[in-house]
Amino acid sequence: MSAQRDLLRFITCGSVDDGKSTLIGRLLHECGLIFDDTLAALSRDSRRHGTTGADIDFALLLDGLEAERQQGITIDVAYRYFATPRRSFIVADTPGHEQYTRNMATGASTASLAIILIDASKGLLPQSKRHSLICALLGIRQIVLAVNKMDLIGFDATRYTAIVDAYRDFAAKLDFTDITAIPLSARMGDNVTSASGNMRWYQGPSLLQHLEEVDVLSDEAAKPFRFPVQWVNRPDANFRGYAGTVVSGHIKTGQKIRVASSGGHVQVQRIVTADGDLLEANAGQAVTLTLADEIDIARGDMLVAPEAPPEIADQFAADILWLGAEPMLPGRDYLLRIAQDWTQARVTSLRHGIDVNTGNHVAARTLQINDLGLCHLATLKPIAFDKYSENQATGAFILVDRFTHETVAAGMIRHALRRASNIQRADFTIGRTARAERNGQRPLLLWFTGLSGSGKSTIADLVEQALFAAGRHCYSLDGDNLRHGLCRDLGFTAADRVENIRRAGEVAKLMMDAGLIVLASFISPFRADRQMLRELVGAEDFLEIHVDASLETCIARDPKGLYAKAKAGLIPNFTGISSPYEAPAQPDIHLKTDEFTAAHCAEQVLHMLRAKGIAC
Ligand code: ADX
Repeated sequence: MSAQRDLLRFITCGSVDDGKSTLIGRLLHECGLIFDDTLAALSRDSRRHGTTGADIDFALLLDGLEAERQQGITIDVAYRYFATPRRSFIVADTPGHEQYTRNMATGASTASLAIILIDASKGLLPQSKRHSLICALLGIRQIVLAVNKMDLIGFDATRYTAIVDAYRDFAAKLDFTDITAIPLSARMGDNVTSASGNMRWYQGPSLLQHLEEVDVLSDEAAKPFRFPVQWVNRPDANFRGYAGTVVSGHIKTGQKIRVASSGGHVQVQRIVTADGDLLEANAGQAVTLTLADEIDIARGDMLVAPEAPPEIADQFAADILWLGAEPMLPGRDYLLRIAQDWTQARVTSLRHGIDVNTGNHVAARTLQINDLGLCHLATLKPIAFDKYSENQATGAFILVDRFTHETVAAGMIRHALRRASNIQRADFTIGRTARAERNGQRPLLLWFTGLSGSGKSTIADLVEQALFAAGRHCYSLDGDNLRHGLCRDLGFTAADRVENIRRAGEVAKLMMDAGLIVLASFISPFRADRQMLRELVGAEDFLEIHVDASLETCIARDPKGLYAKAKAGLIPNFTGISSPYEAPAQPDIHLKTDEFTAAHCAEQVLHMLRAKGIAC
């Protein structure tokens, strides 16, 4: 605990224009952390390039570091360590330029205090509000409002007070416990590490004094015990230990713990570390626990305090900060990682976007990079979690793209959604097997994907005729047809197409339950959605058929005259023209309609069906 009291992690929010580099540079300098040779070079550079006359331009110091950082392109956030006799500091320095939200969020997620830097000559800007909002969302409760460049406004107390009042007004709706405002001049040094002679009207602490004194005793230790299992250590039959980090609370040997997923209780036997056994372990410590009884625990499970267990749910509401270059699409499946657990997750709905400049709710159907929104999510299996506002370690998650494995979102859970648990499945006596048997066939989904005009419906029609003639029970679902009824409300944005395919897939699944062979013809341009279908109906009953014609051929055919319109700019988001088509990498059947007739292609499909035991 004393280690926590002696360390302050903070983030500075603001841009170089607000004087951020100068402020950090001066703090480092006045704490004696800039080496003499650096200082001499800086002093030379300042005379040559600086903006401060004969004085040292501290911004140059940080700019130098910035340039170094530019070379290692992947580092978005730099952490600088410094210490005074009273406390150590880790400051997250996030470049203020593009992708600001993402970088800021990374820095803010580990900080317990944020310095919101304001240029006194400009007053409160939208970006100060944006930064504050993100800090609040990420759980920062302590703010320093650093009103910089006081020298530019003649150290005027009235203007300072107006800025502070405006900020307090704005911040009233955010969850900050403390806002300390300090008037300063990073360039001149006023109120940075010592009281300013230019602002005798200000009675408060200097910035450094406040950073040294502010109470940041973390309450992680006071929260309920949480231990996400990182891996199960089983070197031989005699030892079975669960390795991980105590993310909150503490544990003693002999104490009872609960396994979040199963609800089973068991006693902690030993707390093992590389330096020998411990009698107890606290938040922040990495240990291996051994337990008194054999009990089923896997990597990703959470060991928790029995009297204060986390929530378990497979649906919840969360604030999502989108980080992916591709937009977030409701209905799309992602991988979700929370604590040490992984599962598959889907954003079931985007309730609203959040304007990062004002905090206001805005209508939105997708989230673009750096956008923020409140979403409902559903996971494939129930997960254990706490509300983010109560426990950041067990309430934060990330979403990962299933194909590229990039992190595409950071999420913060607000609360569980219980609705689905009130709905059960009705069981009917006559099931899929009975219906399939009665029909004398195995239900299948033949999914035809390809550009508009590639020949999907034509080939599906021929295949269906042959199946029908052979006595099979089948049905054709077609994009154009569904869009007249069930999907009448949908357009052609990426989000609408995801929903279109989801509905078509659900209908196909019902028809398969009814014992039918389903032929579905949809452009279905996105790989992820076709993967979703495969999982929805089961890979063994799904045939992905790529109806492949070159874009040139489709444009030349243009059966509905739509390509001509699209090229004239009359149809937005037209597949192949102004919206992408992601061809299947490994379709079950690849039909080249450029080269072969529709009849030939239909025969290829029938051939495959016969090989699967379908009489046709
Ligand atoms: S999908 O992309 O969501 O799978 P779907 O197969 O249902 O599309 O519908 C495609 C049909 O809608 C096309 O064959 C074409 O007739 C028509 N259409 C109208 N606008 C567009 C558009 N912007 N992009 C593609 N198809 C369009």
